[in-house]
Amino acid sequence: MMPPVIAIDGPSASGKGTVAAQVARELGFHYLDSGSLYRLVALAAQRAQVSFDDEAGLARLAAGLDVSFDGGEARLAGESVDEELRGEACSAGASRVARFPAVREALLARQRAMRRLPGLVADGRDMGSVVFPDAALKVFLTATAEVRAERRYKQLIEKGMPATIDILLADLRERDLRDANRPVAPLVQQADSVLLDTSAMGIAAAVAFVLAQWRERVPGLF
Ligand code: DC
Repeated sequence: MMPPVIAIDGPSASGKGTVAAQVARELGFHYLDSGSLYRLVALAAQRAQVSFDDEAGLARLAAGLDVSFDGGEARLAGESVDEELRGEACSAGASRVARFPAVREALLARQRAMRRLPGLVADGRDMGSVVFPDAALKVFLTATAEVRAERRYKQLIEKGMPATIDILLADLRERDLRDANRPVAPLVQQADSVLLDTSAMGIAAAVAFVLAQWRERVPGLF
């Protein structure tokens, strides 16, 4: 039997990463932040001066990515790059490199290799549709663009980084459009996924919702 997967998909800044990581911790499962792989490809491309329009070059970088996750901290060729990955340059770059089928294909095996006992919580855009279509639980976690822009704004300000809410909102909308309308693995809610709108909900309630859904599906374990 394959280790169970909980797939949590949704748009940028919806809080799905925080929710997914906490669910994984609660259950003692492994955690895959698939967005960080696309961010790493964007960062590696920037450093190697590979254009965000060069599909073959980006796919080569993706296939050979020397990445490790040290206690959740991303390392590129041994160097800690967590801060850089979260910045707006990598966010925008990730959305651009993620358009290409060859890049997505090159990252597939790496993502599936994370499926290990006792189970995996994976967050991204296509966890339930492409990477783990047989996931035991699929959640589509979203919030309005305004709420997401507000959350991102607070995060950046807390970190002492400059931010303007109107610019963040416009960027989020642009990225949503690109992620939802691309021909491969677009961000859309799957018919077999559960909708979780966190516009008026805190992290703890969202985590509790996912855990309750999970327990409903595997009652024998609890
Ligand atoms: O989840 P995130 O914001 O870190 O993702 C960054 C970008 O990567 C996002 O614009 C879309 C892309 N992405 C993707 O196409 N597929 C995934 N499974 C995860 C992220």
